[in-house]
Amino acid sequence: MQPNFVDEKAINEAYAAINRVRASLKGGAPHYYIETYGCQMNEHDSEKIAGMLEQMGYIPAENKVDADFILFNTCCIREHAELKTFGNVGFIKELKVNNPALITAVCGCMMQQRQTAQRLAKRFPYVDLIFGTNELHIFPQMLETVIHGGRVFEVKDSDGEIAERLPLKRKGGFSAFVNIMYGCNNFCSYCIVPYVRGRERSRHVEDILEEVRKVVDEGFAEVMLLGQNVNSYNDNGVRFPELLRAVNDITGLRRLRFMTSHPKDLSPELVSAMAECENVCPHIHLPVQSGSNRILELMNRRYTREHYFTLLDMLRNAVRDIEITTDIIVGFPTETEQDFEDTLDLVRRARFSAAYTFAYSPREGTRAAKMDCQIEEAVKKERLARLNAVLLESVTGNNDKYLGYVGDILIEGLDTRGEPMLFGKLGNLKMVYVKGSPDMIGGSVRVKVTGTRFNSLVGEIIG
Ligand code: SAH
Ligand code: SF4
Ligand code: F3S
Repeated sequence: MQPNFVDEKAINEAYAAINRVRASLKGGAPHYYIETYGCQMNEHDSEKIAGMLEQMGYIPAENKVDADFILFNTCCIREHAELKTFGNVGFIKELKVNNPALITAVCGCMMQQRQTAQRLAKRFPYVDLIFGTNELHIFPQMLETVIHGGRVFEVKDSDGEIAERLPLKRKGGFSAFVNIMYGCNNFCSYCIVPYVRGRERSRHVEDILEEVRKVVDEGFAEVMLLGQNVNSYNDNGVRFPELLRAVNDITGLRRLRFMTSHPKDLSPELVSAMAECENVCPHIHLPVQSGSNRILELMNRRYTREHYFTLLDMLRNAVRDIEITTDIIVGFPTETEQDFEDTLDLVRRARFSAAYTFAYSPREGTRAAKMDCQIEEAVKKERLARLNAVLLESVTGNNDKYLGYVGDILIEGLDTRGEPMLFGKLGNLKMVYVKGSPDMIGGSVRVKVTGTRFNSLVGEIIG
């Protein structure tokens, strides 16, 4: 099924509203401040909103106190993320008292849950604008209404659309995010994302290539292709491996990454593309979630631990120097000590270079939240601590193989805690610290690894 695209007329209307707001601004340029929670998708959405605001004549504020417009772009992946938002939106009440002209807005995944959005609107009557994840392209019109004194609450139930041609203000740095698809169809039983981000929909290959060419021209060394499950990208039959090869061929691009891959859809074609494309970084984020087949089944992940190990072998055999990172959830409903031991065992054998670990957080409306035998918080906490201890050991142990290793890093900055050291990553995301002068930042240098730390390596510049 082909996704719906927001039509030209609607995008033109957004631009018309942008122009009207800009023309109506009096005095100096107003300042905006965006606080973003959650994943790269949200970071990237915030870049789009920043792009629209800047075309309207707004400029970035250093902090919330100096802002005329504050936006919270929210996440609801775990309860903790939601509580943080309620707390932080509460704090701006005082700013509003001191500056009644301040406009405040809340958007993103958490607001896409209508009831939560209503609760927030009621509790914080000073919030002027609330919108969900399907309304990005009408942001200029909504802001215009608020500027004229209105209050806007816009949360539309929708499978989601694709809006091309919106302005974009990328965060600086080395890496540029490029969306290749939106939404998710997987309905892992613990996960809220399919409910708040709509159905899977892929951008057209040509639109993606054009955007990558543009960011390369703007000077970005690295491109990160984004999707909840990039392995199910499909634009009229063009699948992810083919897209990856096409992006890889763009002249001037130095590093190409992508996120996230679902193990059930990782194909041999993708592994070959990774092995053969010289700009594709030898790194993959491959969330395993659990090492117990019983739990994986209840999670609706649709692979087994045996299959996962097969994938690790396939990747390591084909892609030189590849490093693999993962996500793990502990304390999923019904998880027994034995299930958890299976996860620890998987971690000991898998040789991950890093892992993001989470205590299971029930999300209203998902299947797992309704399951019997929810695990007590204290047990989740205790398992999380044990898992992190095993990870620490395994990650540190893995670093030793890098002693004497020679590779290229892209220098990202200078760390001035202690003796000043430049730092930058190898293609496989391993961080290396080296001595050198700050004018090398932004460049690429060849290094030899001479030592290890917990999460990083130490080396010297050679050649
Ligand atoms: N689309 C990506 C990840 C999305 S969310 C993927 O499929 O891999 C990022 C991570 O948050 C997930 O990999 C999972 O480990 C964690 N997560 C998602 N829902 C959660 C929940 N209800 N409780 C705890 N962790 C959760
Ligand atoms: Fe959530 Fe699963 Fe989709 Fe990832 S693949 S976003 S974990 S439902
Ligand atoms: Fe991302 Fe959080 Fe939404 S992880 S997709 S911002 S729920």
